[in-house]
Amino acid sequence: MTRRILIAGNWKMNLTLADSMALVEGLKKEAASVSQVDIAVCPPSVYLQPVAAALKGTNISVGAQNAYFEGNGAFTGEISMAMLCDIGCKYVILGHSERRNILGESSELVNLKTHAALAVGLTPIVCVGELLKEREANQTENVIRRQFDGSFSGVSAENMKKCVIAYEPVWAIGTGKVATPDQAEEVHQAIRKMIEKNYNKEVAEAVVIQYGGSVNDKNAQEILAKPNVDGALVGGASLKVEPFMGIIKSA
Ligand code: PGA
Repeated sequence: MTRRILIAGNWKMNLTLADSMALVEGLKKEAASVSQVDIAVCPPSVYLQPVAAALKGTNISVGAQNAYFEGNGAFTGEISMAMLCDIGCKYVILGHSERRNILGESSELVNLKTHAALAVGLTPIVCVGELLKEREANQTENVIRRQFDGSFSGVSAENMKKCVIAYEPVWAIGTGKVATPDQAEEVHQAIRKMIEKNYNKEVAEAVVIQYGGSVNDKNAQEILAKPNVDGALVGGASLKVEPFMGIIKSA
C-alpha cells in the first residue's frame, strides 16, 4: 500500500494576517523534521499568497478552501484554479459541508470544480458527509454514495487516483462530537468500495481518504490507526501550533 497520510488544516474564516504568519512560522519550525506525513494548511483566500510564500521550499503545502470552475472572466468575487496554482497552492478543498449546507453548493457544482482542479494539476480534497438526521435514518451510505457519484462523475481512473476524499460527518464538525474510530472506519471502507465499484481495486487502494470532524491531538491517534483512515482534515485544532503538531506527530 503506497498511500501517505495527509494531515490538512482547514482554517476556515479565522485568524488575522499576523496570526496566520505567526502560525506558519511556528509550524515551519516544528514540522521541519517530519518526513512520513504529508502536511497542508488551507488559509482564507486573502492570506494564501503570503502563506504560500512563507512556506515555499518547506515540507508544508498550501491549499485553498474553495475556488471556481471557470478559467477566467466575469465571475465577480471568484478565484480560478489556475490562480491558485500561480501562487503555489497544491490542494483545493471542494464541497465542504459548510459550502454545501450554508451556501447551497451541489455535487454537480463540486463535480465541475473537481474537473477544473484536476485540469490544472491541483489536488482536490473533496468532502462528503451525512447530516445527523440522515445518520439516524440509516441513510449515511446512500447520502455518501450520491455525493461521491455526483462529485466524481466523469473523472478518469488516472485522475481519480490523484484525488483526496475527506469523510466529514456533519454532526461531528465543530461540535466536539468526534465519530468513533469504528464509525469512521465503516464509512471509509464503504467509500473505498464505491471507488472500487466505479473504477477498480487499484484505484480504490490509491485514493487517500481523510477523516474530518472534531479531530484533535487527543483523539487523532486512535482514528488514524484505522486501516482505511489515511489522514485528517482538521478545523479548530489546526489554528494553533501545538494541537496541530500533536495530530501530525500522532500520525
Ligand atoms: P473541526 O472542522 O475539526 O473544527 O470539526 C473540520 C472541518 O470542517 O474540516
